[in-house]
Amino acid sequence: MKMQLKTLGRTGVKVPEIGLGTWEFTGKPETLRRGVEIGASFIDTAEIYGTEDVVGKAISGIRQKVFLATKASPNHFKYDDLLMAAENSLRRLGTSTIDLYQLHWPSNDVPIRETMRAMEKLVKEGKIAHIGISNFSVQQTKEAQEALSRYEVVSNQVEYHLLDRSIESELIPFCERESITIVAYSPLARGSLAHPSIRNKRLSSVLESVRRTEGKTTAQVSLNWINSRENVVAIPKANSPEHVREDCEASGWHLSQKSFELIDEASKG
Ligand SMILES: NC(=O)c1ccc[n+]([C@@H]2O[C@H](COP(=O)([O-])OP(=O)(O)OC[C@H]3O[C@@H](n4cnc5c(N)ncnc54)[C@H](OP(=O)(O)O)[C@@H]3O)[C@@H](O)[C@H]2O)c1
Repeated sequence: MKMQLKTLGRTGVKVPEIGLGTWEFTGKPETLRRGVEIGASFIDTAEIYGTEDVVGKAISGIRQKVFLATKASPNHFKYDDLLMAAENSLRRLGTSTIDLYQLHWPSNDVPIRETMRAMEKLVKEGKIAHIGISNFSVQQTKEAQEALSRYEVVSNQVEYHLLDRSIESELIPFCERESITIVAYSPLARGSLAHPSIRNKRLSSVLESVRRTEGKTTAQVSLNWINSRENVVAIPKANSPEHVREDCEASGWHLSQKSFELIDEASKG
């Protein structure tokens, strides 16, 4: 298996197109370590998940091999609060730098300029390497970009999978133009796409037939399809080493044009 790498924003930094999500991760640190060993070296967590500790254990001793992403919650978007939230995440993760620090979702209360001032201070001090956002619309992404004076927004983490392609109309084209990486969350639709019997019967039968033709699993076909875009990487969550391996093996090959189009047609609308 050869994990495909993609460039993060305009940074020149390469990240694997399959990472390791950790929301509701209840597996062992070894499972995440195994994922890193086989190429899924992008680990995503958040202060709100309660999994920064287990991620910290997983990366202990292999920190330099990992691209580490976490998120701050909007109740910490005031200047001093964000600086403190970052310190707390660093402590729980047992590291001195976060590679990608993301604003978990937009705030209605704190002006984005104030939050981004704190983000820029964190970059300047080397506590975070890159600034990301999550669940931001096109307009909110523009405002986030404009609020930064020295650095760029490199990624937007949003929901994207075969049962919800709504970001394809505006957000993906905008992010492609702006060289902002889309980090696709819930890429297996919270597990639905790993099983053949999903509610969309047409898609279900197409995935079953493509899976057989390609000699892959439904999860692999689903992940491979969304990752066919150059600026998308996916972060499935898997508790077991078997699922981690299966998800990683969604990378390093291409669906045939015919399979791609069948899925495209069946998953529209
Ligand atoms: N930014 C945000 O607001 C936001 C929101 C939601 C999620 N996220 C991020 O995105 C990550 C992934 O999203 P998600 O956890 O919502 O859903 P997901 O990755 O779409 O699905 C996870 C589910 O799929 C199962 N699964 C994974 N690989 C499988 C395989 N090969 N075969 C069968 N089942 C498989 C998992 O089971 P097992 O665990 O039993 O293996 C789990 O039940 C999160 O962990 C988090 O890091 C971010």
